[in-house]
Amino acid sequence: MLILGIESTCDETGAAVMEGGTRVLSNIVASQVDLHARYRGVVPEIASRAHIENILPVVVEALRSAGVELGNVDAVAVAHRPGLIGSLLIGVTAAKTLAWALAKPLVGVDHVHAHLYSVRLDMAAAPPMPAVGLVCSGGHTALYRVRDFLDVELIGSTLDDAVGEAYDKVAGILGLGYPGGPVMDRLASKGNPKAVRFPRSKMSRQSLDFSFSGLKTSVLYHVRGYQGREHEAKKLSEAEIRDVAASFQAACVDVLMEKIQRAVRQTGARSVIIGGGVSANSGLRAAMANFSLPVFFPKLEYCSDNAAMTAGLADVLLSAGRASPLDLDAIPHSQFSHATN
Ligand code: KG4
Ligand code: ZN
Repeated sequence: MLILGIESTCDETGAAVMEGGTRVLSNIVASQVDLHARYRGVVPEIASRAHIENILPVVVEALRSAGVELGNVDAVAVAHRPGLIGSLLIGVTAAKTLAWALAKPLVGVDHVHAHLYSVRLDMAAAPPMPAVGLVCSGGHTALYRVRDFLDVELIGSTLDDAVGEAYDKVAGILGLGYPGGPVMDRLASKGNPKAVRFPRSKMSRQSLDFSFSGLKTSVLYHVRGYQGREHEAKKLSEAEIRDVAASFQAACVDVLMEKIQRAVRQTGARSVIIGGGVSANSGLRAAMANFSLPVFFPKLEYCSDNAAMTAGLADVLLSAGRASPLDLDAIPHSQFSHATN
């Protein structure tokens, strides 16, 4: 089965062609990073306007680079939740139009589930189920009990910032670029993770929820306090910035690992799945390398938002007879309400 996937939940316009649910024939992403960088975050109105401009060229390029004619596509998939409503609407409208014009099934996909499914892209091995799933990105930090890719239950989530959002904000405090994750990761690998003992917010003993806003504020006070001693805005040296980045990353990784361990204990999982932009993080990958269960990360190119994971999960949905009606809605919130433990 050939599935054309469309992604427009946030600030990346993506289209991809997947074969058989795991074989990526093409995966095109038009990034809007340059448009949003000066605001240090995604501006919804700018994002939706850019999606309108990008969507058709990206779809055309995905078909061209896969060597697939539009008429040979078996279904059209779209990430229709959760995300920025103005952004979602562009992808959903494009997907509905294509599905209607081609008289092929439309499949609406939950974007967060698709981040979990990204570990199957171009990968032979399937994670043993049930699994604990962690989606960590700029918009989400949440844990799931994954019985299979169609049976996903939220078991914990952040009460404030997402971990990627904390990376982006701390990068801003340190005067680094946007998005902050990749540059912080690079600097952290050259710094001392024990230089500053930043707080680890682990909540109550059984809790699977997260909180990253205290950590972020602690970095802010550390940097300000440092500057305050000089009574003027003293800039941190490059070595000090590397140490703050490494110490911040160590705190994030500690918390993520602890919550994954708790979730494994509470669910009896047989494997761990980690997806989303922050799953590209080298510190997290290194820390999970010796975990007691098999751990599945996506290939680096499928960590951040893309349409291949959308089309891949759509294959599983379609095989289970779960196509969507042509009046499919764009829905800004997640399928789940927040679960506390
Ligand atoms: O999944 P994604 O592309 O978009 C959302 O759905 O949010 O994730 C983007 C986030 C940004 O916050 C970015 O700073 C973070 O992922 N990120 C990283 C790394 N690469 C991207 N965070 C930590 N380490 C990285 N290597
Ligand atoms: Zn995402």
